[in-house]
Amino acid sequence: MKSSKIEASIPQHVAIIMDGNGRWAKKQGFMTRLKGHESGVSALKNIATAAAEAGVRYLTVYAFSTENWNRPKAEVNGLMRLLVSSLEKEIATLQENKIQLNTIGHIENLPKDCQKGLADVINKTKDNDRMMLTLALSYSSKQEIIEATQKVAEKISSGELNPEEITEDTFRSHLYTSQIPDPDLLIRTSGELRISNFLLWQIAYSELYFTETLWPEFTKEEFDKAIDSYQNRERRFGKTSDQLK
Ligand code: FPP
Repeated sequence: MKSSKIEASIPQHVAIIMDGNGRWAKKQGFMTRLKGHESGVSALKNIATAAAEAGVRYLTVYAFSTENWNRPKAEVNGLMRLLVSSLEKEIATLQENKIQLNTIGHIENLPKDCQKGLADVINKTKDNDRMMLTLALSYSSKQEIIEATQKVAEKISSGELNPEEITEDTFRSHLYTSQIPDPDLLIRTSGELRISNFLLWQIAYSELYFTETLWPEFTKEEFDKAIDSYQNRERRFGKTSDQLK
């Protein structure tokens, strides 16, 4: 039994749906949801540092979905400004902790100053090798799968690929995350029990962890609880317990 558990093993890749910033701001009596997002950035800083210290190699967070563009203009603009200021402020944290910044999603749809800030920090942190922090921005998993399908289809029509050569590996190599292993653990905060168009292909065998805690209140202790829960699960990947012994 013991060998089939993942006791003491740290997940290589943790993905997080950081939810509940708006409700947290309301609960605190703030007039604007942006206060929640600001606290969300602090939580992200703490968790990224804790994850790197714990030995997590990849941390992928859902920072802004394509659907989030439909939020009130003031909130969208505020989030974009917060992204630029956070990049400027937190580059030191990334460097100190040897964290490499990466993005997935349609970055070209972000305001120019966000694109510039991201490109700058990605470039400055490119040699950091302790952990890769991937921000999903203007991201849609369904769109990612459609684009991978289009790329595969183009290779078939040009004769570069035969239909029978499409394997899981060929397909995944066309996803935005081709250079990143699939998440071992997916965390969603704030009590919502859904995936919301995040990494649909990649989480096929991820362990899921849901907590009522709102993202701004998600501390290192809460993160440790999630890791602890992960370590007490048995990942069978479709096999039986006995086969894993
Ligand atoms: C979900 O809470 C959170 C977001 C849509 C944004 C998450 C962003 C951060 C943590 C900040 C870092 C990212 C950027 C772009 C600066 P919600 O607003 O949906 O909360 P609610 O469900 O309580 O309303």
